[in-house]
Amino acid sequence: MKLLRRSARRPELDPGKVALQARNVAFDWSAVDLHWMSAEPYASHLISALNMLLPEGERMFIVTYREALAYVKDEKLREDMLGFIGQESMHAETHEKVLREVLIANGIDAEPYVRQMEYLFRKTLGPRGGDDRAGRQMLVERLAFIACLEHFFAWLGDWVINADLEKFGADPRMADLFRWHGAEEVEHRNVAHDVAEYFGVGYVRRCASMVLVFPIFIALVVRGAKFLVHQDPRLPDHGYPRVIASVLGAMWRGALPGIPSLLVSALSTFQPGYSPENVGSTAQAVAYLAQSPAARAAAS
Ligand SMILES: [Fe+2]
Ligand SMILES: [Fe+2]
Repeated sequence: MKLLRRSARRPELDPGKVALQARNVAFDWSAVDLHWMSAEPYASHLISALNMLLPEGERMFIVTYREALAYVKDEKLREDMLGFIGQESMHAETHEKVLREVLIANGIDAEPYVRQMEYLFRKTLGPRGGDDRAGRQMLVERLAFIACLEHFFAWLGDWVINADLEKFGADPRMADLFRWHGAEEVEHRNVAHDVAEYFGVGYVRRCASMVLVFPIFIALVVRGAKFLVHQDPRLPDHGYPRVIASVLGAMWRGALPGIPSLLVSALSTFQPGYSPENVGSTAQAVAYLAQSPAARAAAS
């Protein structure tokens, strides 16, 4: 499988922008260990934190795009936005299932973290309503935030498609979950950027949003990892310094993406002519999606 993934990453094979479609997936979540990368419990928790963070975050994307659609006259962009909404709905629904059938089923009380995400994404970043100037301005701010987050998701998607998680004893279902999601993030990586530009998000606002989004995103994921470590009876209940040290160790071994390369990627959005086009390969993403076990199981 890995050979196919790597061989597909050749620019000459890239099909360019593709029509976005939501792919159904079918997973059997019975008997998945919380340490789904058996050799890397801290990395398992850090990536699993996304199952608590993403459902609310992606639902905020969907609500915002539905609101934004009313102002979009460009037919191609509308089509991309509808494909994006379809894919993000499936992501949110699938991670919500993992939250219930893996994390909660294994004794994690996810409620406090999930409530905080609800507050953040529904109240702080939720719709303000109203067709006035302030309402429209808030919509544009949210679209700029989404574009920043989508840059990270595409980058992380590209990382996970190419990472050798199997080396750390990864459960194939969890690896496929994140690779399927990651591949669709690579596939639709241009949409949020195109939408933000359509709504007038320029260089200054893009950079300002990234300055805010980068630390918030890292903080939320690390907080989620600490939250899971705290509830894990098989790990010592360490404070942030030792949890962060363990996370950095996992990054060093390649079980997590490294902060320096994530930072370099964030800084690439500060280039005046930035485009998400080079964040990953559509050909490789589409090749992975064609062979994803969960996507194939749902199609059969
Ligand atoms: Fe997504
Ligand atoms: Fe996305």
